[in-house]
Amino acid sequence: MSSYVTKKTPGNTDWFVHDRFGMFIHWGLYAMPARHEWVKMREKMTTEQYSKYFKYFDPDMYDPKEWARLAKAAGMKYAVMTTRHHEGFSMFDTKFSDYKCTNTPAGRDLIREYVDAFRAEGLKIGFYYSLLDWYHEDYTLDRNHPQRDIPDGDAFNEGRDMHRYAQFMRNQVTELLTNYGKIDILWFDFSIPANPSDRPCWQAKTAPEWEAEELIKVARSLQPDIMIDNRAGIEQDLYTPEQYQPQAWVTHKVTGEKVVWEACQTFSGSWGYHRDESTWKSPEMLIQMLINTVAFGGNLLMNVGPTARGYLDERAENALGVYAKWMKYNSRSIYGCTMAEPEFTAPFGCRLTQTQDGKRLYIHLFDYPYKFLELPGYAGKVDYAQFLHDASELKIREKNPGHFGDGQSASDDLLVISLPEVKPNVIVPVIELFLK
Ligand code: GLC
Repeated sequence: MSSYVTKKTPGNTDWFVHDRFGMFIHWGLYAMPARHEWVKMREKMTTEQYSKYFKYFDPDMYDPKEWARLAKAAGMKYAVMTTRHHEGFSMFDTKFSDYKCTNTPAGRDLIREYVDAFRAEGLKIGFYYSLLDWYHEDYTLDRNHPQRDIPDGDAFNEGRDMHRYAQFMRNQVTELLTNYGKIDILWFDFSIPANPSDRPCWQAKTAPEWEAEELIKVARSLQPDIMIDNRAGIEQDLYTPEQYQPQAWVTHKVTGEKVVWEACQTFSGSWGYHRDESTWKSPEMLIQMLINTVAFGGNLLMNVGPTARGYLDERAENALGVYAKWMKYNSRSIYGCTMAEPEFTAPFGCRLTQTQDGKRLYIHLFDYPYKFLELPGYAGKVDYAQFLHDASELKIREKNPGHFGDGQSASDDLLVISLPEVKPNVIVPVIELFLK
C-alpha cells in the first residue's frame, strides 16, 4: 500500500486519485472572437460591443458525442466543462438569466448534451462555474473587470448589489446540481483578493463576497459526494495549480500535509479557442506533463477550447491523438498510480510512478539510457521487469560486478536492467517492474 496520506476533505476523492486524467473544456461566446476567453476584459469591451457574439452564436457542428469519444480514446476519465465563464453567459437553460445559449441561434441546452454524451461514454461529469461575471447587473467593478478603467466607477457600481449576485449564483448552482443527475466535480473560478494598487471603486472579491460558505452548503446539500475546488476561497477538496507543473507533491500551506491536487493545463496558451495562438505544446511535453503530474501524486486536467462551430480543431485533435496513442499501451503507469515510495530513487532522466497498492513500479524513460539502466538500491526488490507497451521481458542482473568486470559500478544494492540499444518507437517508453 502507498504510504502517502492526503489531508481529509469533505467530498469523495477516491475515484479521482485513481483516474488521474481529465478533460477541461472551455467553451462559450468567446470562441467566436477566437482570441482568448478574456477578450471582453482585455479589450475593455462593453456589454453592448460584446452583444454581437450572443446574436450570432450558432455552433451548428456541436457533437459532444464526438468530444466524449476523443476524450475517452485519449485516456481521460472525467471532464469539466464551463457552464458559465467570466463573460457571464450560461451554456445551459437557466431560469435566472436571459443571457443563455437557448436564447441564441444555438437554441438548445449545450450542457445537457455534454452531460448525456460524456456520461454515455462512462466519463465522470464536472461543471466549471465562474464566480466572476462581466454581464450581471449586480456585479461590481474589480481589477479584472472589462470596465475597470471607466472614469466614473462609482456611477457604474451604483445600485449594484453583490448580495443579489450571490443569491443568483446559488440559484444557478442549484439548477446545475439538480437538473443533470449526478455531478462529480464543481469547479469554481476564482477569487480576487484586495491589492494595494486597486482603485477605490474596485471591490476585492473573496469568500465573503461570493457568500461562499452558503454557496458550498447549497452544493453539498444537493450532491453530498461532490468534489469542489478551493477557488471560492474556502478550502474544500481540490488544489488547482494552473499553467505550471509542481515539482513536488502539493502540500497544505499551514499544516504541511499532502493534499489532493490537479494541475490544469492548456495545449496552447489560451483556454478558449484561439485561432492565431501558436505556442502548441510538443507531443513529448504533453506526455511528460501527465507523467510528471502522477509522479508527484497529482491529476492532470488538460484543456480543449472548441471552435464556435462546436468542433475540436485539427490541432486539438492531434494533441488528443498523442495521448490516445501513448495511453493505449501505457495507461497502467497512470491509473491507480501515485508517487513512488521514498525507497525508490528515480535514475537520471527518468520519472517514477507506483501503483497505489505498492506492487508495481514504473520507470518512465524521458532520456533513453542506451543499453543499461542502473538502479542503485533496487537489488532484492524486483521479481520481473518488462516494457509496458509490449510486455517484452527486460533482463535484470543484481550485485553486478561492473559491466567490464572492473568493479566500476559494483555495489551490493545495484540492479541493472538491460535495454535494447535503440529506443522503442514510443514517445516515452515505460519499464514495468513487478516488485517482490
Ligand atoms: C483562470 C482564468 C481562466 C481559466 C481558468 C482555468 O483563472 O480566469 O480563464 O478558466 O483559470 O484554470
